[in-house]
Amino acid sequence: MADGVIKVRGGKPLHGEITVRGAKNFVSKAMVAALLTDETSVLRNVPLIRDVDVVSSLLRAHGAEVDYDHEAGTLTITPGKLHLPDPNEILAVAGSSRIPILFCGPLLHELGEAFIPDLGGCHIGERPVDFHLQVLEEFGARRDEQMYGLHLTAPSGLRAKKVHLPYPSVGATEQTLLAAVRARGITELSGAAVEPEIMDLIAVLQKMGALITVDTDRTIHIEGVQKLHGYTHTALPDRIEAGSWACAALATKGDIFVRGAKQDSMMSFLNVYRKVGGEFEVFDDGIRFWHPGTELHSLPIETDVHPGFMTDWQQPLVVALTQATGVSVMHETVYENRFGFTRALNQMGAHIEVYRECLGSKKCRFGLENFYHSAIIQGPTPLHGANIEVPDLRGGFSHLIAALAAEGESTVSGINIINRGYEHFMQKLRALGADVDKVE
Ligand code: EPU
Repeated sequence: MADGVIKVRGGKPLHGEITVRGAKNFVSKAMVAALLTDETSVLRNVPLIRDVDVVSSLLRAHGAEVDYDHEAGTLTITPGKLHLPDPNEILAVAGSSRIPILFCGPLLHELGEAFIPDLGGCHIGERPVDFHLQVLEEFGARRDEQMYGLHLTAPSGLRAKKVHLPYPSVGATEQTLLAAVRARGITELSGAAVEPEIMDLIAVLQKMGALITVDTDRTIHIEGVQKLHGYTHTALPDRIEAGSWACAALATKGDIFVRGAKQDSMMSFLNVYRKVGGEFEVFDDGIRFWHPGTELHSLPIETDVHPGFMTDWQQPLVVALTQATGVSVMHETVYENRFGFTRALNQMGAHIEVYRECLGSKKCRFGLENFYHSAIIQGPTPLHGANIEVPDLRGGFSHLIAALAAEGESTVSGINIINRGYEHFMQKLRALGADVDKVE
């Protein structure tokens, strides 16, 4: 049984203001980048979420000093003298995180070896790491499969290579960057992901002394350097969390000011939000999102890599679309298995059917593979309370939004997984007027 149970008495619009701090999917990578130097690095705007704890523990297990002032949001990392700990020590702290695979480049540079535990993460697809391993092997790393993970070595160091990614994977792009910045020679990476979190990681690496150029055609050139320095950097805001609260405002007929949200990384979300009928206003210090008070509109959407509509916005938006008039179509092209959360929504009164076909303007990798990766959402459907268990991080937050929008009481279990990526979410819910109680 998953951890954490809350009762939600829904049907009340969420109103008020909450703050979003640094992006989970950037902060964890910037923490790993700190291992590329022996100098101290300072990361600001760091949220108090479980992924930060996990990566801090992994850094400490390898000998780094990590100090986190969570009120100020300042994380100070001093690698000092690194060592490879016993695999059991890594396994004990890695939890279900997928970040350990990104330790490879920095550790192979510093120590000539790394141990990567079998990876976890949300169950939203197979989530293989073949691209990561291909990149590392091309750079000269060797791997040895062990009982609970992989032992990698690079006896003669890492050599730069021409690398092509068959799909613009965020993680594999970060893997290449972290390995290439200190590799011998020039790396040409084509087919790279260009998410804002990756651009912020490149900004960090440039501050550290790296030489990286990004072309307009998903090609990145990295000129290896021998030594990097510490950095001081303020993390970009979490656009996934901001989008999740925006969808909560829409689904509950509410009005939320998301302090910290930034327009530039949310352009495609804002376009869709406007087309659905959601209202927003951009301020210097955040974005206000609210329900228009009239009908919401249905629409067809496809998730995609940046600059497309990101997959992590899909789940919260689907909840809001249950309240739109007409038939919406959602084609998920990034993960093959990201509609499991719709079962609970149907239990609450939604009308969502999932299909194996590509119901979008383009064929994606999952079309002929029997994955239920398209959904048709018919609305508006009143939602009612239910007993639900959260399946994964984003699906979990979406269940929470559904419970807040639903009439009556819901029991939501497995809620602790939401701490992985949503800082102080219970306090924020209360600040917005939600009627929620922790049961266990
Ligand atoms: N893929 C492969 N082989 C690989 C790597 C990826 O086939 O070696 C496939 C995946 O299976 C998936 C697609 O490529 O179908 C995209 O995966 P990607 O590597 O881009 O994802 P990731 O790096 O594992 C990060 C975020 C995810 C976010 C995706 C897409 C982190 C820690 N996670 O995952 O965030 O959905 O990029 O933007 O940065 C979340 O925050 O809840 C979350 C799942």
